[in-house]
Amino acid sequence: MKVTLSVLKADVGSIGGHIKPSRALFDEVKRFVKEAGKNLLIDSYVSSTGDDVAILTTHERGVNDEKIHKLAWDAFLAGTAVAKKQGLYGAGQDLLKDSFSGNIKGMGPAVAEMEFEERPNEPFVFFAADKTDPGAYNLPFYLAFADPMFNSGLILSTKMGKGFTFRIIDVAHTEKDRIIDLNTPEDIYEIATLLRDGERYVIESIFSRSTGGHGVSVSTTRLHNIAGKYTGKDDPVALVRVQGEFPATGEVLAPFEIGHYVAGFMRGSHNGPLMPCPLNVTVSYFDGPPVVTGAAFCVHEGKLTEAADVFDHPFWEHVRGKISEKATAIRRQGFSGPAMLPYSELEYGGVVEKLTALDKKFKLRD
Ligand code: F6R
Ligand code: MG
Ligand code: MG
Repeated sequence: MKVTLSVLKADVGSIGGHIKPSRALFDEVKRFVKEAGKNLLIDSYVSSTGDDVAILTTHERGVNDEKIHKLAWDAFLAGTAVAKKQGLYGAGQDLLKDSFSGNIKGMGPAVAEMEFEERPNEPFVFFAADKTDPGAYNLPFYLAFADPMFNSGLILSTKMGKGFTFRIIDVAHTEKDRIIDLNTPEDIYEIATLLRDGERYVIESIFSRSTGGHGVSVSTTRLHNIAGKYTGKDDPVALVRVQGEFPATGEVLAPFEIGHYVAGFMRGSHNGPLMPCPLNVTVSYFDGPPVVTGAAFCVHEGKLTEAADVFDHPFWEHVRGKISEKATAIRRQGFSGPAMLPYSELEYGGVVEKLTALDKKFKLRD
């Protein structure tokens, strides 16, 4: 059977600042999806990561389906109404347009989707990250799909021996999608050259070269580029099929042990290490550190199993300790150098205003 996985995610308000959605908001989104999705969806799973609410759905309508996108948009509107009623911080903040126009892409919420013929057993992981942007997945997914140091299957499995096709998108180009397909293993230096700059070049999809199967889909919206100004970080979601012609679940998780530095810590303006955390995690220290959660499922005839929480294991407690040290290490240098994002990425208008005012006061010395 051909099934579609669609995950749609937005921040429509949170308690205590940018910490987590309220119970009432969360319950309302869940209730709405259940009610309105009755004749549309096969299954759904609503979860939160930091201040973001994600709606994972399964259905047979294909990707970019207007009804599925509208369902999510309306669910986020219903959540916004609760957020407003409760006086939550940033109520409706990711809903950047006034009315729905056929596709939720470009309207604020993040979307990742894939349609495929279900294998007899179909495991996948749904990742959600808060206080960061889509480039945060560049390094872990590159390592998981292209580097035998992390993906032993590239050596051990004949199915993966042919490598993968990486579809990379230039997120700075907003008029039309600007994409490039590059193949592993022969193009790995070109792929790394692009992925180095995660604010501009982002992995959108990865396909198996042995079966053509769609293995990865990442939400690539940049709110900053849609709104043309600061509106908060993009907090990306991703779907990753595992096992068989794709990496094993543990191979996909392995690179998250690095806790690499990503954009999005405090006010979306600082770099911080990405911390793998249990489902429904909140954020804390310096409005971070940036967090990522992973819910693993099997899907069968469109029905989801319960979620397995991939980062809820004693191993990751040790990792989180190390990553906390990385977080405090970079925080110790405050606003200096790589602790803060480059000027082009700074989310706050105040910096621009200050620099413009200061610029006028500079003098040329004779
Ligand atoms: C992402 C997030 C941050 C905030 C940013 C600005 O979930 O919460 O990117 O949007 O810290 O916050 P405010 O709106 O309080 O200036
Ligand atoms: Mg937020
Ligand atoms: Mg968020």
